[in-house]
Amino acid sequence: EKDITSQLPLRGKKILITAGPTYEPIDPVRFIGNHSTGKMGFDIADYAAQMGAEVIVVAGPTHLQPKQNNVHIQRVMTAEEMYEACMEIYPTCDVAICAAAVADYRPKQQAKEKIKKKEDNFTIELTKNKDILATLGAQKKQQMLIGFALETENEIANAQLKIQKKNLDLIVLNSLRDSGAGFGTPTNKVTFINKANEIEPLELKSKEAVAQDIIDKVIQYYEV
Ligand code: CTP
Ligand code: CA
Repeated sequence: EKDITSQLPLRGKKILITAGPTYEPIDPVRFIGNHSTGKMGFDIADYAAQMGAEVIVVAGPTHLQPKQNNVHIQRVMTAEEMYEACMEIYPTCDVAICAAAVADYRPKQQAKEKIKKKEDNFTIELTKNKDILATLGAQKKQQMLIGFALETENEIANAQLKIQKKNLDLIVLNSLRDSGAGFGTPTNKVTFINKANEIEPLELKSKEAVAQDIIDKVIQYYEV
């Protein structure tokens, strides 16, 4: 009996994808979060699975579900939980794509009880979270590693710095400047930059189409 999935280009490849926001607790009822919906990461996951890959998504809080039934999901809340999950999964992966909007900082202390309202001004001390993508870059062996960058100034130069600092093969630079791009929208305006510093600006297109373009880069990487 012939298995038609054996002809798919990413057959036998295992891909780790981070998606969604992280929530960093302040007290039992409050958190610091962001507007990421996780759609970009889930679209990448669905298309990678369609191309035959074994896909595992480490997802922060989101109600999104993958459309493909062969996408595995590990749900987490905080950046620290996302980091731990990725550390466990990454060594067995061929590709990692970090599409999550990970909180850069978390409250230094988490209050045990709900914080009561008192003074007019209230300060929360924050401490830096570990950079998941940079850690994957530092531990990289055979993996193809892809990150995202969101920049509002010196976009290309800053993205190129991230390629170097995080040891990436490809970075997907998100432009917020063009309307219809970014959080909560169905479209994205992105530029691909690879480690050879080739710069490829794409048209404004749906997140599904951007997901396909990203996975096409993965397929090309294994074609040569
Ligand atoms: N990222 C990560 N872990 C973090 C922070 C970021 O894995 N703690 C990943 C994101 O998933 C993304 C990439 O790093 O793929 C770049 O995120 P971005 O916020 O653009 O860059 P930072 O390195 O956090 O730098 P800054 O926010 O200062 O621009
Ligand atoms: Ca950041």
